Amino acid sequence: MTDYDPLALIAAARDASKHAYAPYSNFAVGAAVLLSDGSMITGANFENASYGLTLCAETVALGTVSSQGRLRDVVAIGVIGGRIGHADAAPVSPCGRCRQVINEAAQLSGRDVTVHCGGATGDMVATYRLSELLPAAFGPRDLGLI
Ligand code: THU
Repeated sequence: MTDYDPLALIAAARDASKHAYAPYSNFAVGAAVLLSDGSMITGANFENASYGLTLCAETVALGTVSSQGRLRDVVAIGVIGGRIGHADAAPVSPCGRCRQVINEAAQLSGRDVTVHCGGATGDMVATYRLSELLPAAFGPRDLGLI
């Protein structure tokens, strides 16, 4: 699955962000993970009254991917974000913790996962490889898992 439309991933991420539970930050994030069979699994940020327990959209989506036994099938991920009630167009890229979570799927899948970043609106998309976002990553390889 190397032939896909990054804008479809961005659109799915935007759709998912409608279900963001973000009453504290008022910042809605959506993520869409593309699997090797062309299917997509989405997630949105899930905040908590104990702020530090918040789960990011990418982590929510990848948690579902893992629970379906599909971490090895991850090809790409689309992420969007913006302030609720604003038309933010600047691309949002994954936080440091999410980069580490994406790396789990990247090393298991043997793919330098592509990360497409967009804003809540507009057509500005910044595309990276995970190795650019998280160089010299620590991961399952270091623990002899692969
Ligand atoms: N957030 C994500 O969902 N993903 C990221 O990569 C960056 C931050 C969420 C966490 C929190 O709910 C809100 O955005 C503001 O930080």
